[in-house]
Amino acid sequence: MKNIEILGTGRAIPSKVVTNDDLAKIVETSDEWITTRTGIRQRYFCDENESADKLAIKAACKAIESSGLNAQDIGVCICATLSGDYATPSMACMVQRELGLRENIASFDINAACSGFLYGLEVARGMLNGSLEKYALVVGCEQLSRLLDMTDRSTCVLFGDGAGAAVVRLSEDAPYASTLGARGGYEILAEGPGKEPSHIKMQGQDVFKFATSIIPLCIKELEEKSGYSSGDVSKVICHQANERIIDFVVRRMKADPDRFYKNMDRYGNTSAASVPIALDELAESGQLSSGDLLMLVGFGGGLTWAGALIRYAGR
Ligand code: UT7
Repeated sequence: MKNIEILGTGRAIPSKVVTNDDLAKIVETSDEWITTRTGIRQRYFCDENESADKLAIKAACKAIESSGLNAQDIGVCICATLSGDYATPSMACMVQRELGLRENIASFDINAACSGFLYGLEVARGMLNGSLEKYALVVGCEQLSRLLDMTDRSTCVLFGDGAGAAVVRLSEDAPYASTLGARGGYEILAEGPGKEPSHIKMQGQDVFKFATSIIPLCIKELEEKSGYSSGDVSKVICHQANERIIDFVVRRMKADPDRFYKNMDRYGNTSAASVPIALDELAESGQLSSGDLLMLVGFGGGLTWAGALIRYAGR
């Protein structure tokens, strides 16, 4: 089986900034509490003219542009989301239509919550290997603001909206390793149709413990499978749920904190979008060079977790 590498990235962020002080006007909270407990200072919410599908289309368009390919080159389109505009048509079908991707390729959504983008990468790798196609488009996109109970201070301060995307290609020689896992549980719960309103509920402390134990395990497994250590990679991009989770993992692993990217201060927790948004920020700001190795780690609802060691081969 051939590996995959990242050829291009893109992101789309809604226009409405919501600061901690804005939330403190709605629920009994404070900038001080949110900042010290989570590292989050602001997040973005879609306004009435924006939606998850529109963000996904924008991020996907930028990722194809940055890859130097054409829409017609894409051989599979996967969107990871738990908050798309419709159950059907899927977000991926809307991306296919709006970007003019070919009709003879698979376009579908997957839901692995905050691990979704990484699940998507591995599904894309499998599908490319089983076909004559070379390139896949993988999007992580959420409009979590539509799932928030704005009277519940324990969740409404945590999440934000946004989209990130990557174009990956099959490669003969790129280093690559992956790990995926799931352990069914209701620790993070968003009820489906028929249970309106479908608000996110979370057992925060249980999820915190899960996250801080699963991230080192994912990294260790990637190290064993690939032969590279987290010290060999340019950046480790973990799902951006809480700054304290990443700091805890860095301390426990005695790792270099500068290697662990953090941007939850600006976006909050954007679930499936958080890893590809971070990827695109790094690429756009010139912090990634072609040939750099990355470790990506996702964890969250399901419960699910996922990791990838992958090469950046962008321009
Ligand atoms: O993306 C999926 C993955 N998600 C995660 O990884 C999230 C993991 N969990 C966490 O990040 C943290 O558990 C939270 C940030 C969600 C909560 O932090 P915590 O330190 O575990 O706080 P807590 O739930 O134990 O609450 C401590 C106190 C409580 O008050 P009492 O009972 O001590 O009086 C809460 O009622 O803080 C209170 N509280 C708040 N106070 C002000 C909870 N939310 C707020 C708030 N503002 N927004």
